[in-house]
Amino acid sequence: MYNYKIGLVVLAFIPAVLIGAYFEGRVVSSDSKNEKKGTEEASKVAIEAIESIRTVASLHEEQTFYKQYHDALIGPHKKSRLKSHVRGIIYGFAQGLQAFAYAGTMYYGSILVSEDDLKYSDLLKVLEGVMIGAMMIGQSVALAPDYQKAKVSAVRIFRLLDLRPKIDAFSKDGNILDDVQGYIHFQKVHFNYPSRPKVKILRGLGLDIEPGQTVALVGSSGCGKSTCVQLIQRFYDADHGSAMLDDENVRDMNVANLRSHIGVVSQEPVLFSYSIAENIAYGDNTREMDMNRVMEAARQANIHNFIASLPQGYDTPVGDKGTQLSGGQKQRVAIARALLRDPKVLLLDEATSALDAESEKIVQDALDRASSGRTCLIIAHRLTTIQNADVIMVIHKGKVVEKGTHQELLNKRGHYYKLHNTQGGTQQ
Ligand SMILES: Nc1ncnc2c1ncn2[C@@H]1O[C@H](COP(=O)(O)OP(=O)(O)O)[C@@H](O)[C@H]1O
Ligand SMILES: [Mg+2]
Repeated sequence: MYNYKIGLVVLAFIPAVLIGAYFEGRVVSSDSKNEKKGTEEASKVAIEAIESIRTVASLHEEQTFYKQYHDALIGPHKKSRLKSHVRGIIYGFAQGLQAFAYAGTMYYGSILVSEDDLKYSDLLKVLEGVMIGAMMIGQSVALAPDYQKAKVSAVRIFRLLDLRPKIDAFSKDGNILDDVQGYIHFQKVHFNYPSRPKVKILRGLGLDIEPGQTVALVGSSGCGKSTCVQLIQRFYDADHGSAMLDDENVRDMNVANLRSHIGVVSQEPVLFSYSIAENIAYGDNTREMDMNRVMEAARQANIHNFIASLPQGYDTPVGDKGTQLSGGQKQRVAIARALLRDPKVLLLDEATSALDAESEKIVQDALDRASSGRTCLIIAHRLTTIQNADVIMVIHKGKVVEKGTHQELLNKRGHYYKLHNTQGGTQQ
């Protein structure tokens, strides 16, 4: 037979325990959105400054970034301090209420036990059962609003996980070409970037590149040359018209397979902070790294002798983003990487534009060698670099407006002639 007196005492304390547990639950779950925003802002400043530390240092702007970082943290810091005080008080109050209830019940219960009115085991049963039950109810009530929030968040997360990109590089679908000739054809391609739907970049652009041909795209800055390169690799799809590789619309091809036939060298080569050999080997991750092939690619890219002359040879680390190599060396490593997969199509987007005259010549030699036996699309704003191309195409207002050899286009006295003269004028 249980003792009703102890029951009544426990019940009397329940409101206090419920209130305490409720506040405790609120404190634990209270969100810290503002603080997160502040620290995010500060991290952004720090990452940006550290990533471009050379620029920051050469502009002597270290203090500015330090101050920005500092200022971004002041707000959240003040708020956190205030909040931690409030939290501390509430937490202490909540725990205090519960401890009081516990102590009170224990006190009265021990009197009953000493008077042989109650068994000690029964005291514990009542105490733990009712007290813990009340605490849990209090906390559940406090966390109930979060349950709704969590449900909404879960929906968002699952939506994100279910998202499939329009162009899926991991998809197994699409036609696979084992061997390509390297014929590239754009038919009346219309294109604007999805982020700027109102700005038409290509307006019915047509291109024809025969296998093995070297074709140069020229035109004023921003006319859409790099856009063409991106469409061939299918980073985007044309809005109208088609981009074809051999007889296949790139839209219908398997994305990974399409890209495996294409080598790309762009203005800013991106190297990873591994050894030179590993950086070249990234060019083909369909098989194990084969040092003979890596060296062969390095030879074709005119950089084997340089690498061999280094104390650590191919195992030399290139440093973060390749900082331990010069611009020309980096570019030649990037060319070796592009050549490793022996691509039928080579896309060179301003590959020599960032180099000084001397490295430009070395890299240009490497590129001339690399382009033989492949279809090659070159973009360069310095027209001297593309004079020897089989065909030069001039893009203007989203279309190819002129094509021919260097001499033919000069004789035409049209767009190319004008471009050529403005550059000749600035060079003299
Ligand atoms: N990712 C992008 N989102 C929106 N607009 C872009 C994007 N990339 C380039 N553009 C715009 O498209 C136009 C053509 O760019 P691009 O093909 O890079 O020119 P370029 O001929 O100099 O290589 C430019 O006006 C540029 O501002
Ligand atoms: Mg460009």
